[in-house]
Amino acid sequence: MSHRFSNIETAPPDAILGLTEAFNADSNPDKLNLSVGVYKDESGKTPILQSVKAAEKKILETEATKGYLPIDGSPDYAADVRNLVFGDTVPQDRVAVVQTPGGTGGLRVAADFMRTQLPQVKIWMPNPTWANHPAIFTAAGVPSDTYRYLADDRTSLDLDGMLQTLRESASPGDVVLLHGCCHNPTGIDPTPEDWKQIAAVVQEKQLLPLIDFAYQGFGDGIEADATGLRTVLAHTDEALVCTSFSKNFGLYSERVGAISLVAASAADATAARSQLKRAVRTNYSNPPRHGGSIVATILSDEALTAQWKEELEAMRVRITRLREQFVETMKTTGKGHDFEFLLRQKGMFSYSGLTPMQVDELKAKYGIYIVGSGRINVAGMSETKMQYFCESVASVL
Ligand code: LMR
Repeated sequence: MSHRFSNIETAPPDAILGLTEAFNADSNPDKLNLSVGVYKDESGKTPILQSVKAAEKKILETEATKGYLPIDGSPDYAADVRNLVFGDTVPQDRVAVVQTPGGTGGLRVAADFMRTQLPQVKIWMPNPTWANHPAIFTAAGVPSDTYRYLADDRTSLDLDGMLQTLRESASPGDVVLLHGCCHNPTGIDPTPEDWKQIAAVVQEKQLLPLIDFAYQGFGDGIEADATGLRTVLAHTDEALVCTSFSKNFGLYSERVGAISLVAASAADATAARSQLKRAVRTNYSNPPRHGGSIVATILSDEALTAQWKEELEAMRVRITRLREQFVETMKTTGKGHDFEFLLRQKGMFSYSGLTPMQVDELKAKYGIYIVGSGRINVAGMSETKMQYFCESVASVL
């Protein structure tokens, strides 16, 4: 009998995580990994927050079981997600929160839910979007299309193009994927005024917003970053929101996220929750406990909450400083290329305008890893390596 696995084609490396594999194998002592969206401190480490450590200490002392969580996760955790994301903008009984392994887990549950419960709809994604977005929805069998997002100058939002595609090409009832803040990969966010226009189109075309909200706290702050989401929710009574605590609690490997479904009534939310649970059960059965316990422990303790907010703010401020330092350093090393536009971008990422060839050259010559689209993880920069980074960028321009 011939071997069944002999003719399997090797898949290409993941566009984002594959680069870290290559980075780890690189022997260049000056190497710099600005690919995956992970926060790093000045020493290049991804630190565990002090508030997280303190919560883990508490959990170690008090945790009484490793038994399964319910399919939809911990109710305490769900209440925390509801408060952080929605504040008091939506009545609690209209929101079904399901704890998921990371924001990616939430997106996959959303995709499976769409395929079974909304089989006629298409999902519209911004062009560009996070590389895993189309992959997740395609894997789940949900048809997708793109709307204009990036303007031709590649440094700003094409709001008119975005609204026009949604108005002219989307069908009523289609899903529109919106990045709640800190757009990945561009760092280009709509202004509060832009969000009002986006919300108006959502209402006019009866689109179902699916808001990916993975970077709350990294743009302008925890509450300010929810402005767009809350503006959209004021114009529709149904939505899906996928959240992640990978970045804002630094809990990357704990896989802690959620999908929240906002329904028009409590009865609708209950029925929809039962279908979300079905999607979970056939994917991974029920979520991991530890990461959600950390979040719930922090948010149920005033002192730990205050400490977490300070730590998150410190990460946000440091990223902004790195962004400014990069722009400043490029003024002297950048051969006249203007990078001021980076100062208008928000969150971990920036679209640098570097071409795939320049990105390849940076990797091969300088051991600098950034995503092929030219996306730079600003949160991975370091003050001490800024000169090296800027000179390397300048040499490939
Ligand atoms: C990223 O875009 O780098 C992050 O969201 C991490 C990931 O899983 O790709």
